[in-house]
Amino acid sequence: MRAAVAFLLALLVCGAAAAQGSQPDEPRVKAQQEREITQPLNNAPVWRQIRGGEPGYIAMPGQEYGQAIMASGETWREFRNGPLTVWGGWLIVLVALAILAYYFSKGQMKLHEPLTGRDLERFSVLERGTHWVAAASFVILALTGLTFLFGKHLLMPLIGHLAFSWWATAAKALHNTFGPIFILSLLLMIPLYAKDNLWRPYDWMWLRRLGGFADHKDVPSGRYNAGEKIWFWLGVMLAGIVVSVSGLVLLFPNFGQQRETIQLFHAAHTIAAVGFIAIGLGHIYLGTIAMQGAYAAMRLGKVDETWAKEHHLYWYHEAKARRGEARPRGQPAQSRSEP
Ligand code: HEM
Repeated sequence: MRAAVAFLLALLVCGAAAAQGSQPDEPRVKAQQEREITQPLNNAPVWRQIRGGEPGYIAMPGQEYGQAIMASGETWREFRNGPLTVWGGWLIVLVALAILAYYFSKGQMKLHEPLTGRDLERFSVLERGTHWVAAASFVILALTGLTFLFGKHLLMPLIGHLAFSWWATAAKALHNTFGPIFILSLLLMIPLYAKDNLWRPYDWMWLRRLGGFADHKDVPSGRYNAGEKIWFWLGVMLAGIVVSVSGLVLLFPNFGQQRETIQLFHAAHTIAAVGFIAIGLGHIYLGTIAMQGAYAAMRLGKVDETWAKEHHLYWYHEAKARRGEARPRGQPAQSRSEP
């Protein structure tokens, strides 16, 4: 008997508490009911609530379903269509203009000595294969990514809605296909190239003399000069890892990511991608028209001894030593910091 009374009492207490809990919404529901009478169809307060990002009740199960509008979505949209597009766009345009201005004022960096006709191997087949898979997918990802960011403003007025919609659809498919290919090539490139990109004391001298680009005089360096090492650590490593990880979060949104997470990773992806493209333009310029013989290094994998001596003197000695053609006896070291 006592147990039954105690159970009933407990039931009463819970019922009272539950009735207590639901009361806070009461005034709001009341106000809404009155508004339906005095101002039918005026749902302004409800929309203010929704616009504020407040979750409401919804019968369908699932995350965020109660949230009709993401307040942060507007912030993200303004950031993406505002500073990100404007500053990102100007950064890429200004870097491209600076490269063109430098090229047309200084021209290509030519070798000072005649070619010897003797070649040194500079890149193995694996290094070159990895490089060109990364390079090709990078260019495709950059062009399709720039289409997503600027296409509507710059390309659509030029080619019209229909052509643009075809290209934008193809660009999305290309971006989603070459994204994973690029990531795989990076996973191979990083261990392959990291060792020779470690910073050495003589790299500071290269930086101080801007790699000889100011006075077109040779500055000795190892296998990769300081400029290439900065490209490797800032571009390939840092920007490469950020665009890859954020890209995977965007490409596979089926792991319970919330909309705010997607917005955050989208912002990180776009910022890193714009930076990567800006630095990449410099690398592509240096790897094509900037310097006589540079492109052949990655295309054919070998360079003439003169090229190696003038651009990568310490690597030239190492390569010769590896071939048992050590520096002729009594030849002095080139400079104090030479190893
Ligand atoms: C069309 C685009 C590209 C061209 C024409 C190009 C060209 C070149 C050339 C000619 C070299 C050899 C330079 C030397 O002998 O020191 C080189 C080196 C290199 N490239 Fe590229 N490249 C391109 C894109 C890329 C991309 C997208 C990546 C990475 C994501 C990349 C990563 C590297 C690395 C790691 C090296 C070795 C030097 C270093 O570690 O900095 N390249 N590239």
